[in-house]
Amino acid sequence: MIAQEMMVLWNRPAAPGYFRMGLACATGFDTAKPGQFIMVRTDADATPLLRRPFSLLGLIREADRVTGIEILYKVVGKGTEHLSRRREGDRLSVIGPLGNAFRVPERCRQLILVAGGVGVPPIRFLAQSLLARKGNPNRCMVFVGGRTKDDLVCITEFDLPGFFLDVSTDDGSRGNRGMVTRRLEKALDDGPVDLICACGPAGMLKAVSAIAAARGIACQVSIEAMMACGIGACLGCAVSVNDDDAPYRHVCVDGPVFDAHRLRW
Ligand SMILES: Cc1cc2nc3c(=O)[nH]c(=O)nc-3n(C[C@H](O)[C@H](O)[C@H](O)COP(=O)(O)OP(=O)(O)OC[C@H]3O[C@@H](n4cnc5c(N)ncnc54)[C@H](O)[C@@H]3O)c2cc1C
Ligand code: FES
Repeated sequence: MIAQEMMVLWNRPAAPGYFRMGLACATGFDTAKPGQFIMVRTDADATPLLRRPFSLLGLIREADRVTGIEILYKVVGKGTEHLSRRREGDRLSVIGPLGNAFRVPERCRQLILVAGGVGVPPIRFLAQSLLARKGNPNRCMVFVGGRTKDDLVCITEFDLPGFFLDVSTDDGSRGNRGMVTRRLEKALDDGPVDLICACGPAGMLKAVSAIAAARGIACQVSIEAMMACGIGACLGCAVSVNDDDAPYRHVCVDGPVFDAHRLRW
């Protein structure tokens, strides 16, 4: 984990209310993994005071060196509104990479990825890293869901060799009408799956976890919590787990990726 000033390379609208930001980094991200996140001071005046967490969407490489990172964010409040006004050449104070990552074992053959709304970044990064890994898993289905077509961001980037993309929106404005979990259940009826990796709204993750548990399928979820420090110092991001000896974990240092079956939903 490193604190550094990063220069904004681009900050472009990706969909209504969503932005993609590229940031040049001097060091520290060569081994960054899907699921990890950064804490960003969104404004030079430190307003809001606290840094904001964002998952890595991907790494920018030049000649086998990581020279930058990319994030995707939705404008929801003051911090993200400040961020949306940053321009190419501006500098931002960033800490990262933080937290743990998704772990897809070598033996995993059939993998399902699920992304809802702004949960796309770590799932997109995971899909791209698996592509680079070659050979396994040998089949990967990606389910992406949003409330409307305007909440489907970066979906064309899942158009990767060996990946099957299934899109749904609650209102049917793009892809299948209905919740992404309905499509997931149908796919699970159709064949065996070794692992599900998911990121998205808490309700979706709870439903995905319940579906996986009912079928005895391993499931990893990247969850969100309000974060003040991102480094295990404030203890503000505690979540409850099924472990009587240590019933709490901290999303910033023990997560954000958890075995879904160990979380107390
Ligand atoms: C590990 C992690 C990774 C994240 N990755 C991304 C990402 O890749 N892209 C993205 O757009 N967002 C991501 N988020 C959420 C993002 O951090 C918040 O949307 C952001 O901090 C809001 O800041 P704000 O000042 O704009 O909003 P605020 O004014 O702080 O809040 C606006 C609204 O958003 C809610 N909110 C704020 N922070 C969170 C949070 N952490 N979790 C849930 N609700 C929150 C508040 O309750 C409030 O309703 C991530 C959060 C975590 C914990
Ligand atoms: S955000 Fe401070 S301990 Fe996790």
